[in-house]
This record gives sequence, C-alpha cells and structure tokens, in this order.
Amino acid sequence: VEWALVTGASSGIGKRCLSRLRQRHISVIGGARRFKTQPVEPSLEIYLDLSQAESIVNFVRKSLALLRRSSGHFKYLVLNAGEVASPTSWRDQSMSQFEKNIKTNFTGHLQLLRLLQQSGELANMSAIVFIGSIYGRLGDANVLSYCAAKAAVEIASNALAKELAPKVRVNCVLPGHIETPMMASAGQAFRSQVIERTPMHRIGRVDEVAEVVEFLLTSGTFITGSSVVVDGGYQLR
Ligand SMILES: NC(=O)c1ccc[n+]([C@@H]2O[C@H](COP(=O)([O-])OP(=O)(O)OC[C@H]3O[C@@H](n4cnc5c(N)ncnc54)[C@H](OP(=O)(O)O)[C@@H]3O)[C@@H](O)[C@H]2O)c1
Repeated sequence: VEWALVTGASSGIGKRCLSRLRQRHISVIGGARRFKTQPVEPSLEIYLDLSQAESIVNFVRKSLALLRRSSGHFKYLVLNAGEVASPTSWRDQSMSQFEKNIKTNFTGHLQLLRLLQQSGELANMSAIVFIGSIYGRLGDANVLSYCAAKAAVEIASNALAKELAPKVRVNCVLPGHIETPMMASAGQAFRSQVIERTPMHRIGRVDEVAEVVEFLLTSGTFITGSSVVVDGGYQLR
C-alpha cells in the first residue's frame, strides 16, 4: 500500500488533492484543524494546527502510528495548508499575528518535514509538492505576511529539491485565483476585478490545481525544483 500525506485536506485544493490520490488507491492521511480524530477508531483525518508546534508533533506521531500498523511508508507529501488571515495593513498587524501567519503558511511545514526526517520517513519518499501562490511573487497590499510566507515556500521548495535529490523530487505549484472558500472570502468586487485582469477571463477550478499536483507527484519523473503557475495567465504583463 502506498501512503500520502496532505495538509489542509479539509477544504478547497487540499481536499481535492486528497480525493484524487485516494482514487488511485493511495492511502492518504489528511491534516486540518477541522478534523477531530476519533478517540477509539484510528482515523485518516487527523487534527492539525500548523501554527501550534505541539499540534504538529501530535499529528506526526499519530500519522506514523497509522503507517506502522500497515508497515507502510509515505511516498507522497502535499504541503498545501495556508491561510490569508484577516487582510489588514502590516501596520495594524501585531508581531504575534504576523508570526502566527508565517507559521501557518511556512514554518509549520518545515517543522513537519523535520519530524518526518527524524523518523526516517523523508528518505523513503518519492515526491513532495508545496502549494505556494502567485502572490509570493507579486506581493500585494494588506497581505504582507501571507505573500512573504508564500515567497519563502517557493524558495524552500527549490532548496529542498537540491538537498533531497536524486531520491526525492520536490516541486511547487503556484495557484492564481481558484474557486475555494479562500477566494470566496475575498469578496465580489475583488472577484470581478480578477476576472477582468485574467487573460483567460475566469477563476480557476480546484481540479485544475489538483491535477497538476497529482502529475508532479506520480508522473513528471525528471521534474524537480520546478514551479508550475496555475493562474489563467494573471501573472502576464
Ligand atoms: N484559492 C486560491 O485562489 C489560492 C490562490 C493561491 C494559493 N492558494 C493556496 O492554496 C492552498 C489551499 O487553499 P484553498 O484555496 O484550498 O483554501 P481553503 O479552502 O481555505 O483551504 C485551506 C486549507 O488549509 C487549512 N488550514 C488553514 N489554516 C491551518 C492551520 N493553522 N493548520 C492546519 N491547516 C490549516 C484549512 O483547514 P482548517 O480550516 O480545517 O484548518 C483548509 O483545509 C493554500 O496554501 C493557499 O494559500 C490558494
């Protein structure tokens, strides 16, 4: 049995990545705050708060316990969870809010990787995909910590690609504007503006991101250290 791990698997892009991998008969462990692990029955959906170090430790411990029961190993990793948090000028964001947002979008995933490395799981892996954002390249007002964290995600993905080669391929997917609760929370005016500025004149679908993630994990055997932009041309000037 092949195993995969997807963070932020309770919604949007992560949820679709999880279901696409399960369709390939891969056992997928999902992490998110919305998941409440059953007290008795071991569940593939495990509580994870990436902004809390202790939660990450518990998540990895429970995930590894599940793996060991089936003598399995993680083959694929999708580091997808992310949060814009309430958009506000950096002037009004406290340092603790700033640091929490960086943890959720970036350093929480590094801690998770470190724990997997210490358990020996990283060495057995085949491929890792990070979900960054075009906003990690563009930057935008009122989302400074999110943009900074997403820029870090892309560079960390490149750095890891070098370090983990030739065994583990590491790539990054940079979505533009995709139809998810995150996008819905940005409001109608933003949405209309985006559609107008996007050469393909629409918002993307979660499956259009998830299919790229699946390709980078299971095919793309000579692709590592790459970033794939999935934004309908929004980045083009
Ligand atoms: N939608 C877009 O237009 C777009 C564009 C560029 C990049 N992205 C990126 O794509 C990824 C997925 O976003 P989405 O659009 O699918 O948004 P979404 O529907 O809001 O999903 C976000 C996921 O991240 C999880 N999450 C948030 N904070 C977390 C935390 N502290 N600990 C653990 N999990 C957490 C959420 O689960 P819980 O709430 O249950 O914890 C949820 O499963 C994110 O990294 C996002 O930045 C999205």
